[in-house]
Amino acid sequence: MESKERETEMGLTRGAGSKEGGNGWEPKITAFVCNWCTYAGADLAGTSRLKHSPQIRVIKLPCTGRIDPLFILKAFERGSDGVLVSGCHPGDCHYTSGNYHARRRFATFRKLLEFLGIDLRRVQFSWVSAAEGAKWAKMVNEVTRQVREMGPFEGYRKISDG
Ligand code: FES
Repeated sequence: MESKERETEMGLTRGAGSKEGGNGWEPKITAFVCNWCTYAGADLAGTSRLKHSPQIRVIKLPCTGRIDPLFILKAFERGSDGVLVSGCHPGDCHYTSGNYHARRRFATFRKLLEFLGIDLRRVQFSWVSAAEGAKWAKMVNEVTRQVREMGPFEGYRKISDG
């Protein structure tokens, strides 16, 4: 069976991205977003009919403080070419300081990603509020463009297919 045909419980397909681009490949981006700000911002983008890349898969968390580095590694393992983590702006976290914890954890986690050979440009961290639908749409397009330029993430695919 082609590895790209294997679906995972996260709804991702292993291996290369979809066949929608001009060269037959489009990136898959997994976005871990907090329920209170970025998810609402993404929803606003939708209700405002703002167009953005369809290559993004949104996974809602109660707060970015819930993000675990393993979530990010799993996303890559299950076929993502890029990961976006986004939550409330500093000072606006629904749980007071979850986003600060996430930012601190993320800074440490970047070193682990580097150690594993994952290009840090594939993992983005941002703040998007519930009122920033346009910012969400712009960011999704920008992240998709960057990951598209880098090409498919092959690291885990080589290991799991090897
Ligand atoms: Fe949004 Fe904590 S509730 S980052």
